[in-house]
Amino acid sequence: MTDDVSTIRTGGVRVPALGFGTFELDPEEVERTVPVALDVGYRHIDTAQAYRNEAAVGHAIAGSPVDRDDVFVTTKVWRDRAAPEDVESSTAASLRELDMDHVDLLLLHWPAEDIAPLEATLEAMTAARDRGMTEHIGVSNFPSAELARAFELAPIVTDQVEHHPYLAVDPIERVLADNGGFLTAYCPIAKGKVAEDATLDEIGEEHGVGPVQVTLRWLLQRGVAALPRTSKPERVAENARVHDFALTDDEMERIAGLAAGERLIDPPFGPEWDAG
Ligand SMILES: NC(=O)c1ccc[n+]([C@@H]2O[C@H](COP(=O)([O-])OP(=O)(O)OC[C@H]3O[C@@H](n4cnc5c(N)ncnc54)[C@H](OP(=O)(O)O)[C@@H]3O)[C@@H](O)[C@H]2O)c1
Repeated sequence: MTDDVSTIRTGGVRVPALGFGTFELDPEEVERTVPVALDVGYRHIDTAQAYRNEAAVGHAIAGSPVDRDDVFVTTKVWRDRAAPEDVESSTAASLRELDMDHVDLLLLHWPAEDIAPLEATLEAMTAARDRGMTEHIGVSNFPSAELARAFELAPIVTDQVEHHPYLAVDPIERVLADNGGFLTAYCPIAKGKVAEDATLDEIGEEHGVGPVQVTLRWLLQRGVAALPRTSKPERVAENARVHDFALTDDEMERIAGLAAGERLIDPPFGPEWDAG
């Protein structure tokens, strides 16, 4: 899995751009899919304390012939653990579950200023980083203004947010570009919806691939990390077939033109999103 878009390099960070998502995968599904993902070349796995599958993720990585050090592992602190004294115990619990001495990226899963001031949460996450519990820290589900504030407060590297052809996040991308961070796209295939899209299908026909691969290539070609998830082992490799074709500028623009402000994840505790 190597071509010019396979790795994101920004500041001191080196991230395999295609990651395997594990939201809503139960431990058995993780044990069935993560080994396949590693086998076909994924080197980035995304989990979270809230997914209740960290132990299975850690077990699948440990059981793989791929070296742990060659896999970029992300986990997240749930918002109710955002108080500084809880950040360390949450991270320690994640490491115990994963059976790892560190992760590569630790994210604050959602803004949580009702629980603790952002400054205090990020200070505790930075301290966890300085103690070697994680290589990097970042945030998730931060709109642009909150993200800009987070960059002022701590050495974060990414914002993991919902992003796919139907939901643009331009203001967030601008803040990331201004601060040397990278965008991580969750729900990158709009929970499977892109598979039914006529425009993406037509573009895919030009390249001998399907709409899912077109969508993932569109993200990677813009320097965005993407975390597609599937519970089906046979789809794991299929979704990763994004390195042997390239989209033209015109195709990239056609895909960007599908944006319609369609948000799939918007829980009641979520932030006020950027307009658009
Ligand atoms: N930070 C956050 O708050 C947050 C929130 C949501 C997600 N995430 C992360 O981002 C990852 C991805 O998001 P997501 O899992 O919500 O959505 P997604 O990856 O956009 O879509 C997953 C859905 O697409 C289907 N699918 C996968 N491959 C397909 C294909 N080739 N053709 C048709 N359908 C296909 C899957 O069904 P099958 O299982 O049947 O294949 C599944 O229902 C998560 O797993 C998680 O790691 C983070």
